[in-house]
Amino acid sequence: MDLRLFPRAEAHGKTIVLGEHSVVYGMPALAAGLPRGIELRARPLPDPRQPSTLRIPAWSLDIPLVVESEHPVARAALEVLGHCDGPLTGWAIEGDAALPAGAGLGSSAALTVALARLVLGPEADVEAVVAASLAGERIFHGEPSGIDSQVAARGGLLRFVRGQEPTPVPLAGPLSLLVVPSGVERRTAEQVARVRSRHDRFPSLARPLLDVLGRAVDEGIAALRARDHAALGEIMQLCHGVLAAFGVSSPVLDAMCSTALRHGALGAKLTGAGGGGCILVLPGPDPQPLVDAFVAQGHAPLLVELTP
Ligand code: PMV
Repeated sequence: MDLRLFPRAEAHGKTIVLGEHSVVYGMPALAAGLPRGIELRARPLPDPRQPSTLRIPAWSLDIPLVVESEHPVARAALEVLGHCDGPLTGWAIEGDAALPAGAGLGSSAALTVALARLVLGPEADVEAVVAASLAGERIFHGEPSGIDSQVAARGGLLRFVRGQEPTPVPLAGPLSLLVVPSGVERRTAEQVARVRSRHDRFPSLARPLLDVLGRAVDEGIAALRARDHAALGEIMQLCHGVLAAFGVSSPVLDAMCSTALRHGALGAKLTGAGGGGCILVLPGPDPQPLVDAFVAQGHAPLLVELTP
C-alpha cells in the first residue's frame, strides 16, 4: 500500500456528441472532453490515522471519507483509493470543479479519475486510471458503459466502443460546441432503464432505432472529416428525434433545442442520459447570439472549443 498522495491531479468533463444510449448496446459513441473539469489537491493531516476528508465547494460537498459512510461520494472515493492501494486515512483532499454535478457532464468520472491520479500520479498508465475510476463509477451508476471515465482520463474527441480502447478522432479544423445545462436533475440509471424497457417490450422496433443512433456516429465523424458542419448538425437533429422516441427527452430539453435552432444553431440535441441534464448545440459561424439567447433565459452555457 502506498500511503502517500500526489499533491494535485486533474481530469476532464465530457459531453457525448453522438451515440448515447446505443453505446450501452455495444455500438460506438463520439464524445468530447471538456478542457476544464476538476482539479484536486491533497495535503497530509497531522495524524495519519485521522479520517480523510473531501471538500469540493462548487458541489457543496464537505464529507469525511469513512467506511461506514452511506454517502455515495464517500463510498466511491474510498473504492477508488482502495483499488489503487492508496491511503484510506490521513489526507485532506480539496477540489475546484468547473463542472456542475449531476448534469451529465461526467462530474463523477472526473472526480474518480482525479482521485485515482492522486494515488497513481500524473504519469500513470491511462488504462489503470480508467479501471480505478470505473470501480468508483459502479457505485454511482451500476454498470456504466465506461465512456465517461475514458473521456475524463484522456480528453479530446474520442470514438468509444464499450470494452475497447477508445480511438482519438482527428479534427480537420476547429470545432466549437455549446453545452447548455437545463438545470433539471436526472438519474442516468433511470434513463438507461427507460430505454431498456422499450427495447425489451418492442425489440423489433427498438433495435433499428438503436442502430440509427450507432450509425450516426460514423456518419458524424465523416462529416467532421469533410468539415461539413451543416451535415453534422442534421445528424444531431435526427438523433435528438430518435432519443425522444425512446422517451428520454423532455419538454424542457425540446424547448431548449428549439431556442438553439431559432438563434442560428446548425443542430441541437440532448446529450448524455436525457430526462434533464444538458443539451449540446452545434453553433454556426458566430456562437454569440446563441450564448446571449440562453443567458437571457437564465442558463449558463459552456462554450467548448476543440482544436486539431
Ligand atoms: O450520465 P450521462 O448523462 O453522461 O449519460 C451516460 C450515457 C449513457 O449512454 C446514457 C449511459 C452509459 O453508461 O453510457
